[in-house]
Amino acid sequence: MMTTYKLEIALDQNDLARRASQIIATYIDLALDQRERAQIALSGGSTPAATYKLLGQEHLPWDRVDVFLGDERWVDLSDGLSNSSMIRKTLLTGSQGSGAKFHTVPLTELTGPADSAKELARLVEKTCVGSPPVFDLILLGLGEDGHTASLFPGSDALNENDKWATESYGNGMSRITLTAPVLSSARKVVFLVSGAGKQQALKRLLDPKETFNRTPACLVKPRSEVLVLSDKAAAGVTSD
Ligand code: 6PG
Repeated sequence: MMTTYKLEIALDQNDLARRASQIIATYIDLALDQRERAQIALSGGSTPAATYKLLGQEHLPWDRVDVFLGDERWVDLSDGLSNSSMIRKTLLTGSQGSGAKFHTVPLTELTGPADSAKELARLVEKTCVGSPPVFDLILLGLGEDGHTASLFPGSDALNENDKWATESYGNGMSRITLTAPVLSSARKVVFLVSGAGKQQALKRLLDPKETFNRTPACLVKPRSEVLVLSDKAAAGVTSD
């Protein structure tokens, strides 16, 4: 089945963050209309920080929301590069978002990222329904090299179909990431893409002939339409 994409281009950075925050809130609301709890997975990197700050102000029954990360870097939780610390400083410091149940990627320092991935897989399986586990919404980033979560071009992690999380390596760091079957099982997938450096990667993501080996983001194939929220620079639209 072909994945369909809907590209929405924001007017500016504020608009991008506002739209992303609203979309996430909407899907949390929808999920909570039907079930007792909602499960979402958020992306790391630098793009979504503004979105999470806004999201943290949204009036939602946050105590019924489980928040995961799609991927984490193998660094100490206090490290500025930790995706968890970014979530703490944004969503979880919000007047509302602080009520969310945030499940950090278990960083079992002594044993290494493989064990951490195993723990994450267990945690996700315990928290979400389904096999593969189903998230109500997964927000993903897109790297300039076409990676998403921590699924990097040409890596073994791309072919991991039996585990729900795996260790990986990219941009000089060991990482832990959810795998393609989990990302593809989400009820809704949203990519958040910003900056001129992402132009080629975005074009490739939207090209039905593109291979996942070169552009791992193409591995994410949910049944529902994928929403791509982009700024003008990434979409290659020249602003006047
Ligand atoms: C990470 C991220 C990663 C990110 C993309 C885009 O830990 O590196 O989770 O998958 O989403 O690299 O990152 P930017 O938003 O910083 O470009």
